[in-house]
Amino acid sequence: MADNLQRNYDFLVIGSGIAGLTYALKVAAAGTVAIITKKQRAESNTNYAQGGIAAVMAKDDSLELHVRDTLEAGAGLCKEDAVRTIVSEGPSLVRELIEFGVKFTEQENTRGQYDLGREGGHTRRRILHAGDITGREIERALLAQVAKHKNITVLEESIVIDLITTQKLGLSGPNRCVGCYALHKKQNTVEVFAAKITLLATGGSGKVYLYTTNPDIASGDGVAMAYRGGASVANMEFIQFHPTCLYDPKAKSFLISEAVRGEGAILRGKDGEAFMKRYHPMADLAPRDIVARAIDAEMKKTGAKFVLLDITHKDPEFVKKRFPNIYAKCLEYGHDITKAPLPVVPAAHYQCGGVVTNVDGETEVAGLLAAGEVGCTGLHGANRLASNSLLEALVIAHRAAGVALQQRHKLPAPPAALRAWESGNASNPDELVVVTHNWDEIRRLMWDYVGIVRTDKRLLRARARIQNLQREINQFYWDYKVTPDLIELRNLALVAELIIESALQRKESRGLQYTLDYPNRDDANWKHDTILRKA
Ligand code: FAD
Ligand code: SIN
Repeated sequence: MADNLQRNYDFLVIGSGIAGLTYALKVAAAGTVAIITKKQRAESNTNYAQGGIAAVMAKDDSLELHVRDTLEAGAGLCKEDAVRTIVSEGPSLVRELIEFGVKFTEQENTRGQYDLGREGGHTRRRILHAGDITGREIERALLAQVAKHKNITVLEESIVIDLITTQKLGLSGPNRCVGCYALHKKQNTVEVFAAKITLLATGGSGKVYLYTTNPDIASGDGVAMAYRGGASVANMEFIQFHPTCLYDPKAKSFLISEAVRGEGAILRGKDGEAFMKRYHPMADLAPRDIVARAIDAEMKKTGAKFVLLDITHKDPEFVKKRFPNIYAKCLEYGHDITKAPLPVVPAAHYQCGGVVTNVDGETEVAGLLAAGEVGCTGLHGANRLASNSLLEALVIAHRAAGVALQQRHKLPAPPAALRAWESGNASNPDELVVVTHNWDEIRRLMWDYVGIVRTDKRLLRARARIQNLQREINQFYWDYKVTPDLIELRNLALVAELIIESALQRKESRGLQYTLDYPNRDDANWKHDTILRKA
């Protein structure tokens, strides 16, 4: 395959979730923008966000309290400056979202007084939400704005394969990103995109695990591409498991928002005991790492396949009104949450680490910015506070747009004719089965060996398996034509390796990393990020 359709833009954006769309809207007045996205434009983690976006809006709340709750959840690894910047810029950018047309739920009989939800780790009600489909509403409003902009082109069903950097092109001088290669899925051609500035907004990597709340797009492509492109990646061991994903063989992955516990739902064992009281003073509203680990411990202790989430003591009309989507979806699967407790299990949910950036979204590679779940700014530390990710994506995308508008005058133009994509030409009839097998193997081994509770022995076993798989996948990758599944598999394997390596390096338990070999937090030796960079 050696197609050389080069397309030049002022700004490239990879990903069409909250981060990519926000940034695109802010740079579009200054030049042409291509948003490349691998499925339909709305398909993103953003689109599935339920609980909402955390921002200080209430009289009894303060920036200081939001900062304190974020630092507390982050277990000593948050960068306080980043936390302060993001928390304090959040409220005005949330108001801008409202101006863009996002309709957050208002309190009854008021206009402009927003109904604020509560989630684990928050000491105040501060989560703006649109019913229980907040992400869908944000995505709808941002896409409607994008549609009005003549400078923005959205290229759907195009999967970016890799970034193009000057280092990879063998050019001298500091490494710089000058574009990317993308496979157009329907035409089966690889296009070359060139721009002075590229924003990575590819979201997270939940699909690395067998059980996840994430949709299929979350295969860690951005982290893998940035790492291959020379950027540092930090804190990949801190994978957040959401405590409450519906346990039902018919449901692929359906999240039961933490906001349900925020409104009083109680986790119970199969004997009915409200067990969270034994684990943390905040009980069911303890930070997520604690709740997920407690559920894991209860399931292991009793041999149960799930625990129960009980909101039957609340007024059914309130529950249906506050959680219409969750109520309806669960009913589809035969569970009436107003009448019986719901079976739930933890599932991989959020990547707290990612491509190292500052609060302006700048990576170590010139011309490459990153915003949203793909990046690691220091906001989340070792554990993200609920509903802080939409907030981070919004603030960092806004700030990155500011940087892009300045840098586009300073950075040199990309080379006029970038090297065409080259990979093997042959199709392989075995591909499907090999790819499917390796996908399944990676996801299962990550679940079994690199999950909520870790040991060095299991991590070393996982490392050996991943290294073997990587050899096979890479051979496949270079010998045969690239396909979307193969591109994702290669990224998934690399991200799995980065998670394992980071987990092996950190010889302590902190936040989302819990290992039986080093069960205590060790501030003297480990109060720092785990940084990985390609040799
Ligand atoms: P995403 O919204 O995931 O967008 C990534 C985009 O990149 C997609 O368009 C994808 O197709 C594209 N992409 C990826 N790889 C490629 C590639 N190789 N080529 C081209 N395109 C690519 N957070 C909160 O703060 N509050 C919540 O209530 C909340 N609820 C959640 C509920 C669920 C079920 C899930 C899964 C997550 C939730 N989160 C929540 C987390 C939050 O939704 C995400 O962290 C956030 O939306 C990430 O936004 P993003 O713009 O960084 O990435
Ligand atoms: C949820 O609604 O429980 C998800 C919130 C989040 O991930 O921040």
